[in-house]
Amino acid sequence: MDRKSLFIAIEGTDGSGKSTQAKMLAERLVLEGHKVHHTFEPTDGHIGKLLRSILKGEKSVCQESIAALFLADRLDHLLNPVNGILKLLADGYIVITDRYYFSSYAYHSVYTEMEWVMACNSKCAQILRPDVHLFIDVTPEVSMSRISANREIPELYETNEILTKVRNNFLKAIEITSSEEKVLILDGNRAMVDVADEIYDIVSRMGY
Ligand code: TYD
Repeated sequence: MDRKSLFIAIEGTDGSGKSTQAKMLAERLVLEGHKVHHTFEPTDGHIGKLLRSILKGEKSVCQESIAALFLADRLDHLLNPVNGILKLLADGYIVITDRYYFSSYAYHSVYTEMEWVMACNSKCAQILRPDVHLFIDVTPEVSMSRISANREIPELYETNEILTKVRNNFLKAIEITSSEEKVLILDGNRAMVDVADEIYDIVSRMGY
């Protein structure tokens, strides 16, 4: 795709601080006068809403179906003609997404083969690869302590055991895809402002 704008994916385990980082980066870029759209997955569209109720435990479906629903949500996130990412990039926005296909690689391969999850998502990578994926790496202990400070009832994947597997899967997926994806691993165990400064420096150097 021919485009001038930037597409940045921010990734991490639950409690890594990625949502705060995505928001802080968007605010800084807006202050510089850029058109910026901060978005997230699961989305707030029809499929994303269904996913959120599954994550809360209100509905139960098998893990393979959850992976497939995340793929469907992502395709709509990309291709929706009203507010899809492709449309926003074409309109000159810098798009920052809080989670993209590395989240699928990391979370769903706790339950099924990573090769299958990657194959399912290959269409998304083909349609739009981020200019950079920023993986905010935190220990499962830091993840869990931040989650328990923010939520009374943990969601589906919010246990120390699962988050340990998810983190290892992120690192494995980053290694497997290193020839085609640009991924930077950031130490997220630091103060939020320090991580925010590093992200801003990285993005500022990207030339947009
Ligand atoms: P999260 O970013 O934690 O949203 P919130 O901060 O609103 O709770 O995402 C919710 C969960 O969705 C998280 O546990 C990871 C999971 N997830 C997947 O399992 N697969 C995916 O492809 C994506 C994008 C998220």
